[in-house]
Amino acid sequence: MQIETVRQTLLALIANSDSPKDALKTPEYRGLYAAISQLDPSERAAYGKAVNDLKNELEQAIETRENTLESSDIRPIDVTAPWDVNGTSIGLLPTEFGSQHPLMTELETVIDIFTRMGFDAIESRQIDDDFHMFGSLNFPENHPARDGYDTFRTEEGFIPPAHTSTMQNRILAAGKEKLEAGGHIAAISYGRVFRNEDVDATHEHTFYQVEGVYVSDNATLGEMLGTLQSFFETYYGQKLNIKTQPAYFPFVEPGLEFAIEKPAALNGKPGEWLEMLGCGMIHPNVLAAAGIDPTKYQGFAWGGGVERLVMLKYGIEDLRHFESAKLQFLRKFA
Ligand code: PHE
Repeated sequence: MQIETVRQTLLALIANSDSPKDALKTPEYRGLYAAISQLDPSERAAYGKAVNDLKNELEQAIETRENTLESSDIRPIDVTAPWDVNGTSIGLLPTEFGSQHPLMTELETVIDIFTRMGFDAIESRQIDDDFHMFGSLNFPENHPARDGYDTFRTEEGFIPPAHTSTMQNRILAAGKEKLEAGGHIAAISYGRVFRNEDVDATHEHTFYQVEGVYVSDNATLGEMLGTLQSFFETYYGQKLNIKTQPAYFPFVEPGLEFAIEKPAALNGKPGEWLEMLGCGMIHPNVLAAAGIDPTKYQGFAWGGGVERLVMLKYGIEDLRHFESAKLQFLRKFA
């Protein structure tokens, strides 16, 4: 019988095909419908039913075949194989290695410079509380200066730190004994900070800061300026002009903004000043909050962004490149 022959042919075709649906476009299949008009009207109902049954059977077979094809795409993962052997390529050739993110490389350089100057280095926290963000830093309750930091807050009231100054109280409290034994406190803290800001070429909601804290029984503002100038000159590998201007931060008194003159080697024009960080002498209330007697000890602190440092060094125009994960950008530093 003709229908049975077509059935066998098409089922065999479907079972071996990579595109089983094509079986419904074959002349054999179409011929079944074309034949209807040549039948005696009394035979048409039975024939029509037989063709319809075959259609259902073929559709079922197509679906089964498609499922088989799909599941055979799932191969076991070879964890020893290079990247795109196991699936979608991420734009790296299997023979290429990735590289450290430029911000991490530069941060390591910054840490290295300060540790060689005698500072301990500790990573800052990524979730903190109101006390470390504000209270321990001499921000009075409900003071408008709190709003200046555009802090995120969790439902429980925790704060992803908006500056690395959240580490000051911990550094001071941890160094208190050493200080009272006649030593000094010298530490930097580095890490991610978070601000609820609109993102543009010079603002990110997430960026990196480095904070410095130094306390002794006779620390001076002059020592602070010398320390910072020395850091910037080492980082940029050249002599630099510096200047300061008054600024308000509740946790320092006096508070300053520290600027460097953009060097000619980095495309700067004379008189082009770049504000690099905030700094000042640690407020007595901040020392006292960590159990350090402000009548006996004094210190200085500073804090500033890492991206800004790196952008100046390499002439990067847009802060957003750092978090963009664009290989074209990252490869320039590999
Ligand atoms: N935490 C300040 C900021 O992010 C910077 C700063 C640190 C100022 C330490 C003074 C002392 O804006």
